[in-house]
Amino acid sequence: MAFLADTLLRVKPSPTIGVTNLARELKAAGRDVIGLGAGEPDFDTPDNIREAAKRAIDAGHTRYTQVDGISELKSAIASKFKRENSLDYRPSQVSVGTGGKQVIFNALAVTLNPGDEVIIPAPYWVSYPDMVILAGGTPVAIDTTLEHGFKMLPEALDRAITPKTKWLILNSPSNPTGAAYTRAELKKLTAVLIRHPQVWILTDDMYEHLVYDDFTFSTVAQIEPALYERTLTLNGVSKTYCMTGWRIGYGGGPEPLIKAMSTYQSQSTSNPCSIAQWAAVEALTGPQGFIAKHNRVFKERRDLVVSMLNQAQGISCPKPDGAFYVYPSCAGTIGKTAPSGKRLERDDDFVRELLEAEGVAVVQGSAFGAGPAFRISYATKTDDLEEACRRIQRFCGNLQ
Ligand SMILES: Cc1ncc(COP(=O)(O)O)c(C=O)c1O
Repeated sequence: MAFLADTLLRVKPSPTIGVTNLARELKAAGRDVIGLGAGEPDFDTPDNIREAAKRAIDAGHTRYTQVDGISELKSAIASKFKRENSLDYRPSQVSVGTGGKQVIFNALAVTLNPGDEVIIPAPYWVSYPDMVILAGGTPVAIDTTLEHGFKMLPEALDRAITPKTKWLILNSPSNPTGAAYTRAELKKLTAVLIRHPQVWILTDDMYEHLVYDDFTFSTVAQIEPALYERTLTLNGVSKTYCMTGWRIGYGGGPEPLIKAMSTYQSQSTSNPCSIAQWAAVEALTGPQGFIAKHNRVFKERRDLVVSMLNQAQGISCPKPDGAFYVYPSCAGTIGKTAPSGKRLERDDDFVRELLEAEGVAVVQGSAFGAGPAFRISYATKTDDLEEACRRIQRFCGNLQ
């Protein structure tokens, strides 16, 4: 009898963490490697948030807390939803977990039965399908295309919905493409969803604040109140507040769902870190001015990377509205031969040969369910980005 559970055979380790680790190993071995794989800001957590954490330790906030978040944080989150999204969630409708990742997993774990389907537009964040599988459900990918800005069309959503569909996971701005739905685009999707009352919506708004030019962020329950009762609005402090290591994420939704998630969390991990929760209170209630400052830097980097990649032979890179990723197609390089003599058959080959030849680590599009493409995270020092793009240009120029 096998020792490991069968479920484990169906999930794969996170490929983005895999690339980051490989780049780290090569660096440790003395190679000059620029890693563009990691999905986290290169900025430090702002000082006021760090100070709040130190104060929390000194004040003795070092014990178990309420399982799904201290009341001070739930209130701060409820105020944030009201202030920024015009959404009314009572603190009892808010769940705080160890990162947005745990909140998503909890929601899936307490709702999915074998055979239940979860619709996920592709390219998708690598963890969604595997989380669905771990929670006992079946992921159903809907392909999107570069021509439509990697956004799901309402007809495609309508076609994919079956009586077994339990959730749609929407992620805007998106990891990995940076694509963000306008209010009008979302409205077309919500019109479809209204006609299918069995479908719940998990809207992953993790990159809400990371939008550029004059893009205005909207979220499902805000623009379509009729869907409020079947929407989980997910967010967190990791990306906006440069707090990836602190592990605080949260969701707002109908009370019965939030309660079930709390029960699940109470028997798995209990409360998220008490000190990180106090830091998150400061993040959500303290000064917000640094967000615009960071966004100016991110926008400059996005423009630099898009422009330089579009000058690389065989690469075509759309300019996304948000997050800190670009998702260029490398279709024009497939079939060519790398300096090592290896023929590029798929985007995995492109990524491996690029790392080998030029020491630039990116993630293959096939990991996100759509290729041939690759993802670049531009949450990296501007000088490194520029050098990495120069190397990509050289790599593509040297392909035979
Ligand atoms: C789209 C998306 N959702 C959720 C998360 C989870 O973030 P965290 O668990 O750090 O809050 C990430 C992190 O990479 C992400 O990219």
